[in-house]
Amino acid sequence: MIVLGIESSCDETGLALFDSKDGMIGHIVNSQHDIHSKYGGVVPELASRDHVLKLVPLLDQLLSQNKILLENINLIAFTNGPGLLGPLLTGASFAKSLAWSLKIKAIEVDHLEAHIFSPMITEKELKLPFISLLVSGGHTILTLVKDNSNYKVLGKTLDDSAGEVFDKVARHLGLAYPGGPEISKVASNISSSSYIFPRPMIKTDCYNFSFSGLKTHVTQLINKVELNDSIIEDIAYDFENSIIDVLISKTLRAAREYNIKNIVITGGVSANKKLRMRCDAEKGKNKIFFPNIAYSTDNGAMIAYMGWLKSSEKSANNTLEINPNPSSRFI
Ligand code: KG4
Ligand code: ZN
Repeated sequence: MIVLGIESSCDETGLALFDSKDGMIGHIVNSQHDIHSKYGGVVPELASRDHVLKLVPLLDQLLSQNKILLENINLIAFTNGPGLLGPLLTGASFAKSLAWSLKIKAIEVDHLEAHIFSPMITEKELKLPFISLLVSGGHTILTLVKDNSNYKVLGKTLDDSAGEVFDKVARHLGLAYPGGPEISKVASNISSSSYIFPRPMIKTDCYNFSFSGLKTHVTQLINKVELNDSIIEDIAYDFENSIIDVLISKTLRAAREYNIKNIVITGGVSANKKLRMRCDAEKGKNKIFFPNIAYSTDNGAMIAYMGWLKSSEKSANNTLEINPNPSSRFI
């Protein structure tokens, strides 16, 4: 079975072809970072317009690069939420009209579930159950995943997500959007910092997170000092470490408490090199899995794969109604 995956929940137009026998055939992502960077965040209307412009040419490119014909596609999977309503509508309308014209099924995929299962695309060793840390621009959620429809949410952010504070602090530091990779880049120039920022909620018994206090702490400091390259590096270094310390500490504690060996870390922030290196050092009692770096940030490959996992379920919806949901069914 060949599944076409379509992602358009925010500022990436992602398309992919997944073969249930041979694995991922190919994927293509157009990022809108250049469009949004001058605003310091995503402008929903501009995002929708760009998805409309890119969906058809990207599909043509993906098909011709991989020598697949439209007629070879057996199923279409598209992101139906959570995300920005306008961008979701563009992908849903495209997916459903294409499916209708090809007389095949179009099924809805939850973006968060797609992130959570994305390491399975490449990590054949990864088996359920696992502890999942999903860290993206919109979410920070720690979950016990028993199977692909049985989840127990252990904790989530009470305010900003980890990716969001990376983006906001980067903006105050005068760095480009998205802020995560920018902060990481400048932090990697040094190996220690003169600042020690708080590690919010690291010692609390629960599995919730809170990053907005850290953001305020760091932005108040930024407003007091005269920024130069060296101070920016100093701030970025301990800010990045603070977030990583909290994420790793809570995730490992959950694995210990629930006696689960496998840990999965996904979403845009899982592209962070230092987070990956620090997790490498923690491997031993636990097995920690990340998605292929290309599947950390938003992409169509994870949607195609999740679509295939969900395709056999009775609940796999195939109506022609265009009904994307800006919130998630999953949490
Ligand atoms: O999963 P994603 O692409 O979109 C959402 O579903 O939200 O995540 C985007 C987030 C942004 O906040 C971005 O700054 C962050 O992921 N991000 C990173 C890195 N690459 C992307 N954060 C830290 N380090 C990175 N290398
Ligand atoms: Zn995402």
